[in-house]
Amino acid sequence: MSQSIAKPATGKLGVMVVGLGAVTTTFMTGVLMTRKGLAKPVGSMTQYDRIRVGEGEDKKYLKYNEIVPIADLNDIEFAAWDVYPANAYESALNAQVLKREDIEPVRDELIAIKPLPAAFDHNYAKRLDGNNLKQGTRWELVEQLREDIRRFKAEKNCDRIVVLWAASTEVYVPVDEKCHYTLEALEAAMKADDKEHIAPSMCYAYAALSEGAPFIMGAPNTTVDIPAMWELAEKTHMPIAGKDFKTGQTLVKSGFAPIIGTRCLGLSGWFSTNILGNRDGLVLDEPANFRTKEVSKLSTLESILVPEAQPDLYTNYYHKVRINYYPPRDDNKEGWDNIDIFGWMGYPMQIKINFLCRDSILAAPLCLDLVLLSDLAARAGRYGIQRFLSFFLKSPMHDYTKNEVPVNHLFQQYVMLKNAIREMGGYKADELID
Ligand SMILES: NC(=O)c1ccc[n+]([C@@H]2O[C@H](COP(=O)([O-])OP(=O)(O)OC[C@H]3O[C@@H](n4cnc5c(N)ncnc54)[C@H](O)[C@@H]3O)[C@@H](O)[C@H]2O)c1
Repeated sequence: MSQSIAKPATGKLGVMVVGLGAVTTTFMTGVLMTRKGLAKPVGSMTQYDRIRVGEGEDKKYLKYNEIVPIADLNDIEFAAWDVYPANAYESALNAQVLKREDIEPVRDELIAIKPLPAAFDHNYAKRLDGNNLKQGTRWELVEQLREDIRRFKAEKNCDRIVVLWAASTEVYVPVDEKCHYTLEALEAAMKADDKEHIAPSMCYAYAALSEGAPFIMGAPNTTVDIPAMWELAEKTHMPIAGKDFKTGQTLVKSGFAPIIGTRCLGLSGWFSTNILGNRDGLVLDEPANFRTKEVSKLSTLESILVPEAQPDLYTNYYHKVRINYYPPRDDNKEGWDNIDIFGWMGYPMQIKINFLCRDSILAAPLCLDLVLLSDLAARAGRYGIQRFLSFFLKSPMHDYTKNEVPVNHLFQQYVMLKNAIREMGGYKADELID
């Protein structure tokens, strides 16, 4: 192994997850089952992928943990916050993602994960009515969350903590220059209990970063996508990543759009629709919550099929994304994509993609990878926006105040991921992003 620039992953890693619903319980159950040798962490890059390091005669294909010190699954301790009091075992059964036989072997470990009271505001997710809640102003919520993190870390004797948001999508909070552009303004708004501009998720992010924990936003919420949080991440030297797990339809889109772009075919329209029936679908049935998701999902194509770069091919294509709540399907989402393309001399053609996926089964490995790689990044001294994690995210964070264009192209994102692992492993980042 080359000399990694990351500190070793000594001791335990505390993984505190906001939301103990379908995604979180599938993630936790899978990690616990894998630890017992009863399941395989399929889909996880940190557990399976091999990347090239070195060139020519020195070329080797290594797994991530042969290049960089990644925390071992056996060293993970879990905690969660949720609006509902059900423990992880009850919640895993309620979610109906996994079969009972895949949950029972880790029943005791799951029962022990009891959700801490949530920092919640009904106005941010009207369809939820749980009563496992903290009380107080936004600033008081921050202080209570910080106390939760400190207590868990001490009780479980953790060396490090990572906080992951896998809770419901909040209503859309547009970036506000007055409240969200500087840390000072953000703190003032929290202290003034400004409920309009400070989403509960911002309290979690602020608490995590202040306690020296990386924060990952798995929903499309704008929480850490504001300059004030970038400032806090710089100040505390903590990594942040977001937003929105890239699981089903957007994964397909960011992998398929390059086929059209690479072959210089034209696009006149891309219509994406979904049906899903889990609690996530229920929350997204509320127009204000769907708006947050829509903004995130729509951003994918613009930077892959760029009208300014190819006016003949990509000017004025119609891009539409819909999500429909349909209870009979539970967590088994069905996505349809109708893609209207055109070829030689403008002749039209159609492509149809029908993805019968399982939402939480696709999201769980992303939770694991995002947590382990954020922890690694912190130990390697990387802080602020972690662009190399864009590979896992639908709407990658970028500095829009400087007109930075996010990278949505799946294979360009993969190059960024590989280069970051190489660099943290003490190798040269040797692939260009074309
Ligand atoms: N599964 C996927 O493919 C996928 C992809 C991208 C993003 N996501 C996002 O991941 C999130 C989780 O999805 P899910 O299917 O597990 O949803 P879920 O509804 O099963 O679970 C979310 C949980 O979060 C809790 N919650 C809501 N607000 C909270 C708060 N302020 N504090 C603490 N807990 C809170 C809810 O009570 C619920 O139990 C959603 O935002 C979803 O949009 C999922």
